[in-house]
Amino acid sequence: MNRKYRKTIIAGNWKMNKTASETAAFADEIAPMLPKKPECEIVICLPALNIAAAQKAMRGTKIRVGAETMHEAASGAFTGEIAAGMLADMGVKYVIIGHSERRQYYNETDLSVNKKVRAALDAGLVPIVCVGESLEQRELGVTTELLDYQVSAALSGVTAKELRHVVIAYEPIWAIGTGKTATAEQAQEVCANIRALLRRKNDARTARAVSILYGGSMNAKNAAELLAQPDIDGGLIGGASLKPADFTKIIEAAAQG
Ligand code: PGA
Repeated sequence: MNRKYRKTIIAGNWKMNKTASETAAFADEIAPMLPKKPECEIVICLPALNIAAAQKAMRGTKIRVGAETMHEAASGAFTGEIAAGMLADMGVKYVIIGHSERRQYYNETDLSVNKKVRAALDAGLVPIVCVGESLEQRELGVTTELLDYQVSAALSGVTAKELRHVVIAYEPIWAIGTGKTATAEQAQEVCANIRALLRRKNDARTARAVSILYGGSMNAKNAAELLAQPDIDGGLIGGASLKPADFTKIIEAAAQG
């Protein structure tokens, strides 16, 4: 973390979990546990259907409600989809873009991720752009090249000024939902490389202002070590964000760095 230049962000990704009533119960349980003045931005990205209920339930807490995905078009004949403008109109700030599950199960490509980043920025949202290698790619030794490509593709056409409204989440696919976490050194190395790429493509001031999160089996036990790394500015947390006590511990870990 480096609080001098950029925000620390602890973001939950609930995926397809919790009904509206379960969301309200979560809010009731976590509210008294949260630090009064958290040292980080706290976000929970949850199913769009429950955003309104979650905003109501989490009012008075420091938690911001975010979205898990969106469509790249501003409006139109896309049955079942949700546009960036709809999220912005509800007061949503953060939206996850290009999560590996979206890429794997819903055919999201580097091109569609780029279009979604564009649409999110145009609507005034802050995209949390997910990138990360598979185990095969890591074993082939192409992690750096792959991440450079993924980040460059996702951010194609994004100006240095706009980049200050983008969050990047490095999520090695082999670490998501598997209980296998990247070591703090592995995660730091990749996040530092991403920042170096942003520096090469933009400038040092812009690169140091971008928050880069780590995601992949981050939990109450390993969060402190990961968050202590200089280029890891927070976490994108799946499983552990569903449990108030665990999520709170991660938020507390973010206060220590
Ligand atoms: P996990 O998920 O923390 O359950 O590994 C992280 C993510 O998919 O964002």
